[in-house]
Amino acid sequence: MADPKQSIEELRASIRHHLHRYHVLDDPEITDAEFDALYDRLVAIEAEHPDLVSEDSPTQRVGGDPASKFAEVRHELPMLSLDKSTTAEELERWEQRCRGLIDEADSLHYTCEPKIDGVAVSLLYRDGQLAQAATRGNGQTGEDVTANVRTIRAVPLRLIGERVPSVLDVRGEVYMPISGFEAYNDAARRNGERLIINPRNGAAGSLRQLDPSMTAARPLSMFCYSIGIVDDSWAPTHHFDVLMALKDWGLRINPRTARFDSLSGCRDYINRLEQDRDSLDYAIDGAVLKVDDLAVREKLGQVTHKPRWAIAFKYPAEEASTTLEDVDFQVGRTGAITPVAKLDPIFVGGVTVSNATLHNMDEIERLDLHIGDTVVVHRAGDVIPQVMRVTKRAETAVPVAMPVACPVCGAPIARDGDQVVARCTAPTTCPAQRKERIRHFASRLALDIEGLGDKLIDQLIENELIETPGDLFRLTVEQFEALERMGRKSSENVVAAIDRSRSTTFSRFIYALGIREVGETTAMSLAAHFGDLEPLIAATAEDLQTVDDVGPIVAESIVSYFADDGRRELVRELVLHGIVWEVVERKVSDGDTLALDGETWVLTGTLEALTRNDAKARLVALGAKVSGSVSNKTSRVVAGPGAGSKLTKAEELEIPILDEEAFLAFLKQNEP
Ligand code: IVH
Repeated sequence: MADPKQSIEELRASIRHHLHRYHVLDDPEITDAEFDALYDRLVAIEAEHPDLVSEDSPTQRVGGDPASKFAEVRHELPMLSLDKSTTAEELERWEQRCRGLIDEADSLHYTCEPKIDGVAVSLLYRDGQLAQAATRGNGQTGEDVTANVRTIRAVPLRLIGERVPSVLDVRGEVYMPISGFEAYNDAARRNGERLIINPRNGAAGSLRQLDPSMTAARPLSMFCYSIGIVDDSWAPTHHFDVLMALKDWGLRINPRTARFDSLSGCRDYINRLEQDRDSLDYAIDGAVLKVDDLAVREKLGQVTHKPRWAIAFKYPAEEASTTLEDVDFQVGRTGAITPVAKLDPIFVGGVTVSNATLHNMDEIERLDLHIGDTVVVHRAGDVIPQVMRVTKRAETAVPVAMPVACPVCGAPIARDGDQVVARCTAPTTCPAQRKERIRHFASRLALDIEGLGDKLIDQLIENELIETPGDLFRLTVEQFEALERMGRKSSENVVAAIDRSRSTTFSRFIYALGIREVGETTAMSLAAHFGDLEPLIAATAEDLQTVDDVGPIVAESIVSYFADDGRRELVRELVLHGIVWEVVERKVSDGDTLALDGETWVLTGTLEALTRNDAKARLVALGAKVSGSVSNKTSRVVAGPGAGSKLTKAEELEIPILDEEAFLAFLKQNEP
């Protein structure tokens, strides 16, 4: 047998290498199973040779008995906190103040980093070995959480690379990845265990476990962002170089760290980061701007616990707690019943929110919602606010009463097959469904009837002037004028708008019908494929599935839509009312290929000559798929001003990029 000592050393070296690839560089070279096999082999050999087990072996992350309390640790160099800003003006003022404190010859350059929403920790490495880990505490004294931090795989037990200082105090943020947080809560929910409230609480709570094996079971990671005491062998001159050195030594640095020569660069960074906030696997509450030159920092100094050389820019919180006051049940155009949470109004994600979606009835059960519960509400970007979880139950809380009949028309509710969506079973007579169908028909991406808003549609239905979209085309100026808040002029305008909407595109018409499962993209593909109404109505489920993005469920939904006499009647009526579109000549049957068949395009940034949707429609008409994210399957990217991470990614992957001008020229060349 091989020398066990040598085998152990080789295995450890290999395992350390793969841990670093996986947890620090996010770029694994082997599969999880291959890694597990290496790890298991090391465990087995060490079990046979206990004398060869050392503290920095990768198998020794979880060790020691549970502590009864944490020892205190004094930070030789205090752990500081940050001044905050929320506006561009505050950043300007900060820069002005910095300028006033430094010499004229000095210039200000900045490093920008995401502000990770976790727990600040300092790691002390002696001779390259992790000797101690401590929480920030009050900045002067924290708690010794070494045993727990050792269980975090992104924290190397031993540094790699060259010229590692013999004493190195590294600071950073321990956090719980969002994916890990969700997986943890899913499992906890299944096992009836306590849920973690949010990723930050998850990180803080995990670090304060007295039993390190509990910490090891939590998904934690870490980003390093600064240093404390370091021995004299290393004298970096810029913060960015510090981070790069830490990276070379095997520590994890945030990949979105960037350096800028001016505040305007930082401002763009802040905006881009905010846009991408929800695609990150870690919670951030802002960005941190730091003066890059360490000699300039020295001149700027600090006030009490905050350095003058750094500032946080805070984004609005995306989660907040409030009370669930009631649950409403709304009926959509396909009869789907959607529960909506009525909340005690709360400021979250930059706006005041009083309604949040609950998706479907099952969601109420999944969340175990009671009226009166304290709930966490999430609102990010322009996404509809959501109820994430219950955090407290009042004694007076009562379970949500589920409707047994349609809350609008009283018809029975049914679920088709094993679907989660419950629907009202009276599609033609339910006033809510009628209203929603007409609303959809007139909406911007459908027939785009200007001036026909929700309130007006409500009145038309209530006064029994219309039942179906086709009825709109019979309405007269006088009928509108007789309604509340409608004058002669506005009535004439709506009638003119309805008239104008008769001339449309085939894809808008398909979308306007409101066929279940057929969104605007599918409508575009169907229009491009079939060209006109007759072939679409005649298509079998099999024919339909040859169209991009149309699977069995969508195909089935289209077939059953046109199989219904009432709906075919409605479609015929619309055509009789003079709705027209340009028929696209297309041979469906003989395997005719389109210019962009098989290509996937991505649109990003703003376009001026045409809307995003028109651009999409024209690409789809040429046979392309239009996707929302860039990957190595992307054929081309159209990037307008303001393009951000998608453009960067496309550049990285060397995908051809077109600006608007080139894109328009391309369309001109390729369109029939
Ligand atoms: S620098 C003076 N950089 O924010 C340097 N802090 O409000 C102080 N934080 O306690 C820290 N991400 O927990 C810095 N990229 C980052 C950070 C960051 C998160 C936290 C850290 C600190 C708090 C200050």
